[in-house]
Amino acid sequence: GGNRTFSMIKPDAVKDGHSGSILKMIEGAGFRIVAIKLTYLSAERAGEFYAVHTGKPFYDSLKSIMSESPIIALILEKENAVEDFRKLIGATNPANADAGTIRKLFAKSLERNAVHGSDSDENAQIEGSFFFSALEKF
Ligand code: CMP
Repeated sequence: GGNRTFSMIKPDAVKDGHSGSILKMIEGAGFRIVAIKLTYLSAERAGEFYAVHTGKPFYDSLKSIMSESPIIALILEKENAVEDFRKLIGATNPANADAGTIRKLFAKSLERNAVHGSDSDENAQIEGSFFFSALEKF
């Protein structure tokens, strides 16, 4: 039981072969995988996903980096999912991430920071629906 969050394993982490280790940490922390998909974002789709960042100095770079190679999209379930998942992944900038967090272990930089996690229940719902149909997130 519990509520849900959305996560993406980002292109660099997939390409560098960290998907298995990251999924193992996610399941080990008590999250149930509700939905999972290896897919690809075009720069345009990446821009839609990150529309909230339109106009920011890192927006074009973010679109480019997120469309370099495949990503893994995930819907995850656990009590207190959004907050607990953000603790598991650590700070957005890996330089500020606590030891033992996914970003501390696998992020290369602020822009190539290994994973995304939703920042609210509302955004978890929106972001999950960006990648998965209703039947895929049963
Ligand atoms: P994420 O949690 O996926 O949300 C937006 C992403 O933009 C963030 O992770 C970073 O990878 C990237 N990013 C690049 N520069 C910045 C910045 N200055 N502040 C926040 N996020 C940034």
